[in-house]
Amino acid sequence: MTIIVTGGAGFIGSNFIFHMRKAHPDYRIVCLDCLTYAGNLSTLSSVMGSENFRFVKKSITDREAVFKLFEEEKPDIVVNFAAESHVDRSIEDPEIFIKTNILGTAVLMDACIKYGIKRFHQVSTDEVYGDLPIDRPDLFFTEETPLHTSSPYSSSKAGADLLVLAYHRTYGLPVTISRCSNNYGPYHFPEKLIPLMIANALNDKPLPVYGKGENIRDWLYVEDHCRAIDLIIHNGRAGEVYNVGGHNEMKNIDIVKMICRELGKPESLITFVADRKGHDMRYAIDPEKIHRELGWLPETRFSDGIKKTIRWYLDNRDWWETIISGEYRNYYEKMYGGREVL
Ligand code: NAD
Ligand code: TYD
Repeated sequence: MTIIVTGGAGFIGSNFIFHMRKAHPDYRIVCLDCLTYAGNLSTLSSVMGSENFRFVKKSITDREAVFKLFEEEKPDIVVNFAAESHVDRSIEDPEIFIKTNILGTAVLMDACIKYGIKRFHQVSTDEVYGDLPIDRPDLFFTEETPLHTSSPYSSSKAGADLLVLAYHRTYGLPVTISRCSNNYGPYHFPEKLIPLMIANALNDKPLPVYGKGENIRDWLYVEDHCRAIDLIIHNGRAGEVYNVGGHNEMKNIDIVKMICRELGKPESLITFVADRKGHDMRYAIDPEKIHRELGWLPETRFSDGIKKTIRWYLDNRDWWETIISGEYRNYYEKMYGGREVL
């Protein structure tokens, strides 16, 4: 079995590669990643050069390179993690999101059709459903919830999802889609909420909470997400969407306070700053379908997962310090430098 994993040098893709190497040591894994700011080859150092693993530095939007790779590898399965993934960046510059997330997905699927793939899996997000009101804790996203996006990021992911389902109906491509809630865990790029707060707290820097910090996200430990995708690509029904989430709803401010407590840092580091434009209030997944059909359940409680994650950032300072001392500094200055403090 040969699997092409796109975006495997990023956060979830790399964790998925590690999961698959353990769960299916006989599979050949080919990682296709063009190494944007979010891709990091050092993350894959433990598998580089090992048997049954190949890394290819190309973009999923490069039609010629993608078709050449499929010709060489004749993959059975493609799992598409490659994307521009940060809402804040999409607000600053939407174009690359449309190119990578929509066009790149189409290029991959065209190659899948030509080379007769067994399964194309699209890694999507709960953000395609828009947001839920904060005063209706009884509401959850199901697979039938209408797509109703807020940001250029979520719109580009929704566009890709629609294209994936269209390729199934029009060309009979055996596709599946997973729509997952916010992930956290090792190798999370330090411009997203949890790793940013851990890194800033460890450096005694202000912890920039958008608005009042009342927004709610439904957090899932990355390994639980990887197990879900493994189940879907093997046992999920073609043409179906599966929501993945762990009923772990947390307010942003409570997470930041928890990180302060775990690291023994004062809450006075918390700084409320100007809100994100179009900021979604609440995400919450109903994972009933994947539980019923595939027996999937999350295994890591947030209280344990956050401790494990903080431990990982303490033990792997080199990994994130190298990132935050580079180009990241310009990004940080642009996004937070002149930001209004509330
Ligand atoms: P990430 O930003 O950490 O990694 C993205 C990876 O894709 C990087 O390695 C980058 O180099 C690569 N990439 C970007 N453009 C590419 C291109 N044109 N060609 C090849 N590679 C390219 O993202 P992540 O957090 O690991 O997210 C992975 C996927 O999961 C994304 O599709 C995202 O939409 C989805 N998702 C993420 C979350 C989350 O909480 N992080 C939740 C739900 C869904
Ligand atoms: P993020 O990690 O960017 O994920 P997403 O926007 O895809 O959910 O942000 C998670 C939440 O944290 C979101 O409500 C925005 C908020 N946030 C802050 O309050 N401060 C920050 O510096 C960042 C990066 C995010």
